[in-house]
Amino acid sequence: MKHLLKMLDLSTEEIIDILDLADQLKYELKHGIPHPHLQGKTLGMIFQKSSTRTRVSFETGMYQLGGQPLFLSSRDLQIGRGEPVQDTARVLSRYLDGIMIRTFAQKEVEDLAEYGSIPIINGLTDFCHPCQVLADLMTIREFKSTFDGLKVCYIGDGNNMANSLIVGCLKVGMSFSIACPDDYQPDPQILEFVKEYGDKFQMTNDPMEAAKNADVLITDVWASMGQEGEAEKRKIAFAGYQINDELMSVANKDAMVLHCLPAHREEEITNKVFEAHANEIFEEAENRLHAQKAVMVKLMSDK
Ligand code: CP
Ligand code: NVA
Repeated sequence: MKHLLKMLDLSTEEIIDILDLADQLKYELKHGIPHPHLQGKTLGMIFQKSSTRTRVSFETGMYQLGGQPLFLSSRDLQIGRGEPVQDTARVLSRYLDGIMIRTFAQKEVEDLAEYGSIPIINGLTDFCHPCQVLADLMTIREFKSTFDGLKVCYIGDGNNMANSLIVGCLKVGMSFSIACPDDYQPDPQILEFVKEYGDKFQMTNDPMEAAKNADVLITDVWASMGQEGEAEKRKIAFAGYQINDELMSVANKDAMVLHCLPAHREEEITNKVFEAHANEIFEEAENRLHAQKAVMVKLMSDK
């Protein structure tokens, strides 16, 4: 594994390896066992979109690993004034040991990897959010002890989260059902990928059907970053695509609920369900730190 660009690139074994290391790093942190695997290394973090969790967890994670994070806003970089990614990649490769980038087009992330010579980590694009999904998988395994026989249900927009969750969950052996409006289905590349999984993948317009007997329910905002102008139109299209008590009543009794955050209460999830599952949702947010530290160690340490 040279980069983390999208879940489609990872093998099941690589995913499990990252999750195992993430569990170990979480244990070590909680028990005060230092793990300076990236001493002397520098991670550049390019943000073309807002962030709370991704920025703070990468920055803190890098410190905990003994390395140095460098926050690079696209407002300040020449990339924001049109310097090509191809050139930025070749320049930054000479200063840094790794780059995390949050941007719009997936191609920009792939180009950084192609033209640069250091590991590239995707911190969210319009296409996918692999760091979040690794944290989600870690959280599911933490709460359920296994992936075997579990059904994950995603309600709402076939967006970056849906695209990565589908791939991650199917690759580790879980079943996946998604309820989304016809005009908001996952990316065609993902719908192609699911073909080899037969009836382990299900897509419907009916949230109740998708949620039936689910062990994990997940949702995300109706309008993602960059889609603010479509917010009103999307409120109409996604009406009913909500995790609420009625939906929870058809899921398994001990079903857990995840949300990558930020959440829009009373839109994609009711406040009541959110608060009832806050311990899972905030453990998920914490696990961003541990999962990303594992990714950085795998990609950037000399060993
Ligand atoms: N879930 C997530 O990526 O959060 P931020 O946008 O705050 O980084
Ligand atoms: N789908 C959301 C996820 C935020 C972490 C977005 O792209 O804005």
